[in-house]
Amino acid sequence: MSSITRRGFVAGGSAALFSAITTRKGFSAGTTERKIQVSPNDSLGTIHPELHGHFAEHLGSCIYGGLWVGLHSPIPNIRGHRKLAVEYLKALGVPVLRWPGGCFADDYHWRDGVGEPDKRPKRVNIHWGGYTEDNSFGTHEFVDLCRLIGAQPYFAGNVGSGSPRELRDWMEYCNYPSGSSLSDERARNGSPEPFRIKYWGVGNELWGCGGNMTPSEYCDYYRQFTTFLPRFGDVPPFFIACGPSKDNADWTNQFFAGMKDRRRQPDGYTMHFYSNGRAPATRFTVEDMNAQFASFRQLETAILHQRGLIDAFDPQGKVGLMVDEWGVWDRMVPEEERERGRLWQQIPIRAGVATALGLNVFHRNASKLVMCNIAQMVNVLDSMLLTEGDKCVRTPSYYAFELAKPHRGKTSIKTEPAQEDPLELSVSASVDGNSLVLTLVNPKHEESIKLQCSVAGKSVASAKARSLYHSDINACNTFESPDAIVPKNVPATAHGAEIAIELPPLSVTTIEATLG
Ligand code: AHR
Repeated sequence: MSSITRRGFVAGGSAALFSAITTRKGFSAGTTERKIQVSPNDSLGTIHPELHGHFAEHLGSCIYGGLWVGLHSPIPNIRGHRKLAVEYLKALGVPVLRWPGGCFADDYHWRDGVGEPDKRPKRVNIHWGGYTEDNSFGTHEFVDLCRLIGAQPYFAGNVGSGSPRELRDWMEYCNYPSGSSLSDERARNGSPEPFRIKYWGVGNELWGCGGNMTPSEYCDYYRQFTTFLPRFGDVPPFFIACGPSKDNADWTNQFFAGMKDRRRQPDGYTMHFYSNGRAPATRFTVEDMNAQFASFRQLETAILHQRGLIDAFDPQGKVGLMVDEWGVWDRMVPEEERERGRLWQQIPIRAGVATALGLNVFHRNASKLVMCNIAQMVNVLDSMLLTEGDKCVRTPSYYAFELAKPHRGKTSIKTEPAQEDPLELSVSASVDGNSLVLTLVNPKHEESIKLQCSVAGKSVASAKARSLYHSDINACNTFESPDAIVPKNVPATAHGAEIAIELPPLSVTTIEATLG
């Protein structure tokens, strides 16, 4: 049993009651002391691995020059895919990868990207820079990448400038086993086996770049398109409807009002929620950082609110809420975008910490979410990897995902006090049998946190911890110094029902403990 009772924690109320500020030598000038309790029997739902999903768009140098270097590149590659990126992403484990957009999805015509590469048309990417693409990366190449890194493919279909026929044909091409002209064409193009694609997005941001529609207009399109999308082959499709930007209630209410008489509701409904930065990525002040961190409270509120709105139409909870674009979006530097591609930004420790705040939100709300996809995988926005020539650097956000990995498939559990304020300590915890995982984010750049965590009703046999930290909020991994910020082992002690640890300033720490 914990030396501090559950009753004691509940009675205590606010975190402030458990903290005292002292000055000491060590990570920083200040140290806050905190006590929390996790309750292995208080489930908050299963953490679906898909909550750690990713997104790769034809945007800037995410695909061309980033993930895809081409078959004849001097950069080491596997069938055209950048070898180092494949290795890093495979090691990270990518449960699901969304493609080809984003805004790009509603101007993408899948036929452009199949067949002999040198016969594929060159098209102008109208949303992102107006440059041309040769379509050398298409459906087969994307599926090949997913297989190389072990990800489930998620196709975002074209509603805005496409047709129901075009989308149904793409599904048939991908999933029908054999014997139809489209499935036979797939076989001739190198894949006799169907791709068995499960996740199908029905358009992207239809309220904006996907067609500037009203929610009821989109609802009509959704109903029309999905009428012609049966199950081709042995994989039941999972259809994803476009939800709101942030917490827009009107979009959700009107979309579901229009779906009321339909027997088949969407399987997934996705909101987009970016955490905007008011400065260029490496020029943040502490105020800028805190303003961005504060947005993760709004993200949590939006998830709860949107889930509530959907529940009013879907009392059995069959429609899964998703956040298939999220992450930090700082102010772009025009010269960097010109040199490295649209929406290119550095990912300092501050962005990695922000990303971990988002992952903690998703873990705590595991019962309310089925998938989340960080935007984006390489060289765009909150990226996992940055590339330059043959160099490939893992960002602090990559490591935030790596530190979150042990939670996958485990049961999210309750923490008291709840620790949901992104400007204070942020906690997510999960269990599976005797294995307990905690991810602790210290968002303060000048204070370490001495934490005592008790586990209700259990003893802790052992605990080990790794931490990603840097007290300079603008520090980052560069092409010259790629390993400046990597997770390091930090001491964690297990005693009775408690784990004690000191969390460095501006850090993400994961404790893996074995319960007795
Ligand atoms: O991720 C960048 C862009 O942000 C996507 O293309 C779009 O869906 C969103 O507005």
